[in-house]
Amino acid sequence: MPILKTLEELKNYPFSPYEAPRKVLMAKPDYYKVAYKINPHMVDGEGHFPKIDEKRALFQWEKLKAKAEEFGLKVFVIPGQENFPDMVFAANQTLPIDSRHIILSKMAHAERSGEVQFFADFFENHGIETKRLPDEVIHFEGTGDAIWHFGMDLLWCGHGFRTDFSAVDYLGETLGLAVVPLELVDENFYHLDTCMCILDSKTVAWTPKAFSEESQQLIDSFFPVTIEIPYEEARDTLACNSWSIDGQNILIPLGAKTLKEKLINHKFIVHELDTGEFLKAGGSVFCMKLAFF
Ligand code: ARG
Repeated sequence: MPILKTLEELKNYPFSPYEAPRKVLMAKPDYYKVAYKINPHMVDGEGHFPKIDEKRALFQWEKLKAKAEEFGLKVFVIPGQENFPDMVFAANQTLPIDSRHIILSKMAHAERSGEVQFFADFFENHGIETKRLPDEVIHFEGTGDAIWHFGMDLLWCGHGFRTDFSAVDYLGETLGLAVVPLELVDENFYHLDTCMCILDSKTVAWTPKAFSEESQQLIDSFFPVTIEIPYEEARDTLACNSWSIDGQNILIPLGAKTLKEKLINHKFIVHELDTGEFLKAGGSVFCMKLAFF
C-alpha cells in the first residue's frame, strides 16, 4: 500500500533516509519565449503573450546556475531547441528515482511533448537508465508534480492539471514508491511546485487554496511546521516555486515578501533571485532546473 492517502498511513510508514540530490540539469533558454498559453500566467492583462527580453532571461538563468554552483552542486547544461520554447523548465520532463533510474514524463500538452527526448538522450549518454511510462499512465510532468520529501524516501505527487491519478497509481502500485497524492484545484497553481515547497524534513511553505480540502488537511497535519503564503503572493511571484538547496539555504523568487520574512524568522538563509522573464511563462527558480542523484 505505498499510496499513502491518510495521515494514519503516512505516520505509520517506515520511511528511510534519502540523500538530497547533488547534481543539477538545466536547459539553456536559447529559444525561450511565450508562444502559446498552457497556463494562466502566459498572457498579460490584455490577453497577449508577454514579450521576453532575451538578454535579461539569459542573465537571470546564468545567475541561478551560478548560485547552484556556489553551493557545490554539479550543474550540467543541455542546449535549448528550436520549437520548444518552454524547454528551459527542466523540472518537468523527467523524475529522477535514484542514481541509476529516471522516469520520462508524458507531457499534458502536445506543445511540450517533444522536449522529453532531449532529456532522455542526456541521461542515456550519462549511463542512467530511462524508463518510459506505460500506456495506462495518461499524463505525468516529472518534478513539476512529483516532489521528493527532504531527506526521506517519500514522494509528494500533485494531480489534477498536468499529472493525473494514473501516474500516482503507477508510481505507488507498480514501482512501489511511497507516494502521497495531493489534489490541485486552482489552475493558477497547475503544478505542485507552484504551490508547495519542502524546505527541510519538517517544514513546508505552501498556499493552501491551491489544494482540495482533504489535501490541505493532510499537509497541515503531517508537517510539524507550515509556512503559509498568501494567495496573491503565491500566484503573482510564484513564491512557492522556491528551491531548498540543502535544508538551510533557500533560493526564492524576488518579491516574495511574506515568504522571505517567514523564512528568516524560521532561521533559513534566503537568497532572492530575479526570475521575472520566466514568470511570464509561469515558472521560476524550482522549475528552471532538475535536481538529480
Ligand atoms: N510554460 C510552462 C508550462 O506551462 C511553465 C512550466 C513551469 N514549470 C513548473 N514546474 N512549474 O508548462
